[in-house]
Amino acid sequence: MLAPMQGVTKRDVRALFLAWVRPDVIFTEFMRVRSTASGSRLSAQDLREAQGAEQGVPLVAQLIGRESVALVEAAQEAQRGGAMHLNLNLGCPFARMSSGSGGQMLQRPEALREILPALRSAVGGTLSVKLRAGNEDPEQIFSLLPLLESAGIDFLVLHPRTVVQEYEGAADHRVTARVVRQTRLPVIANGDVRTAAEGLRILRETGAAGLMLGRGAISDPLLFERLRGKAPAEVAPQERAAMLRYYLGELVARYGATFCGDAQVLANLRGLLAHIDEAGWPQAFKRLRRAKSVRAFAAALEELV
Ligand SMILES: Cc1cc2nc3c(=O)[nH]c(=O)nc-3n(C[C@H](O)[C@H](O)[C@H](O)COP(=O)(O)O)c2cc1C
Repeated sequence: MLAPMQGVTKRDVRALFLAWVRPDVIFTEFMRVRSTASGSRLSAQDLREAQGAEQGVPLVAQLIGRESVALVEAAQEAQRGGAMHLNLNLGCPFARMSSGSGGQMLQRPEALREILPALRSAVGGTLSVKLRAGNEDPEQIFSLLPLLESAGIDFLVLHPRTVVQEYEGAADHRVTARVVRQTRLPVIANGDVRTAAEGLRILRETGAAGLMLGRGAISDPLLFERLRGKAPAEVAPQERAAMLRYYLGELVARYGATFCGDAQVLANLRGLLAHIDEAGWPQAFKRLRRAKSVRAFAAALEELV
């Protein structure tokens, strides 16, 4: 699965991944559920993303919210707009982004007793959650499993860091392995998969039903194909340079068609560049980041050899 990444896995990026490496499942960026009762629970922009599939691949619409009625209404709106699969974000660690929702929901897990069954009744397709191992305690997940099971969710995506940990340290997939053993729910392992060897090791050692790839896939989209054994597990620098030229060149074209003006195109490209491993081409990446026009960006791309 391609991970939801706010500001990164926008429609253009998803479309490129679908055409190129075709993840088995893709996610929208999180859709913020509005708490005001009047008007729509979701923004018009988010509603445009509400679909059951893109290019024939299931698209999961992810909601971030904290209150049962608002979440249910948002799920209903998303489904009226065309969404089929819904996911609840219980992992975002940034209070600024989530104010009581996302990872902060793990501070009041009792609220999930109401929210999850209510969402389950409202969602016709799959309902899943994406969560951290706990708020402060990486063992918290174990106390949540009975609740997740009785609520009838279809699968869970586990990023085994705590919320307070944000992105420090490493994802501890020993927790994933224990969760897999303790629940009958399919568990998707997420966090720190950067190479095919690492992903295959995590699958083997945890028994997880699948992997979700975030930063590793943004840095190397072919990671999907490497995991499937359809692209070499290791890549020579020249091949990586050619891959990056294709990848960023495609995004220049796709963003160029979506956004109006160089400033927006460049801002979106920079958002992606921040997650791409630049080892081997520090100068070219510096020029890419500093490019003042799309033309200068395209010229800097040619230096990636
Ligand atoms: C820039 C950025 C944006 C993210 N946005 C979301 C999001 O919208 N929803 C979500 O559930 N997780 C979000 N995440 C978390 C990722 O989906 C994923 O769980 C996390 O990065 C760990 O996986 P990785 O090591 O493969 O990147 C985001 C992560 C990053 C780095």
